[in-house]
Amino acid sequence: MSENKLTITAICGSLREGSFNRRVLKAMEELAPKHWEIHHVDISAIPLYNSDIESHGDPQSVVELKESIRTADGVLIVTPEYNMGIPGVLKNALDWASRPARSSVLIQKPFAIAGATPGSGGTAQSQAQVRQTLLAMNAYTMPGPKVLIGSVHEKLNETTGELVDEATLRHLEKFLIAFEQWILIFKQS
Ligand SMILES: Cc1cc2nc3c(=O)[nH]c(=O)nc-3n(C[C@H](O)[C@H](O)[C@H](O)COP(=O)(O)O)c2cc1C
Repeated sequence: MSENKLTITAICGSLREGSFNRRVLKAMEELAPKHWEIHHVDISAIPLYNSDIESHGDPQSVVELKESIRTADGVLIVTPEYNMGIPGVLKNALDWASRPARSSVLIQKPFAIAGATPGSGGTAQSQAQVRQTLLAMNAYTMPGPKVLIGSVHEKLNETTGELVDEATLRHLEKFLIAFEQWILIFKQS
């Protein structure tokens, strides 16, 4: 692994404070190599995409989102699944970030996707839709390993809410190392 600093933008697809996906993101932050600098982007203030708003200039929340992605070596998305798909707030944020289409900050940007749910499907369908969205935006999404955390509520410490399931933590470590390798492919080319 490289010892050079890597800047990672982290986006959580859930807005709620007690989000399981935010807890997974926190666990990843603790497991991440020390030379990673992780910058969390808050997507809660981003308005619904409207080209009338855009024509007057990006809202501050969108400026911050785009700038964070533009300056990042890679972007990590940890998201829930809503009705077998991508949460609207996340799709909306990515739609804003995809503008202008031919020169957006997403083009050739390395991405990795993960997700957690109390259900059994591990957010597979949500992640598939995020992957498809990023493909349309010419981003480079890591093919695997996949992080599909089912029954997430059973994998947390009951008091602190921290992710404590050992097998999941070891898998997250592998995922983070793979993401660094994925990023370096594009950083060196
Ligand atoms: C509108 C809505 C739709 C949902 N649909 C799904 C679903 O299709 N698959 C699934 O695994 N969980 C689904 N859930 C349950 C979420 O996985 C659960 O609320 C989870 O805690 C959300 O993630 P968070 O804890 O990070 O906020 C849905 C929840 C909501 C509010």
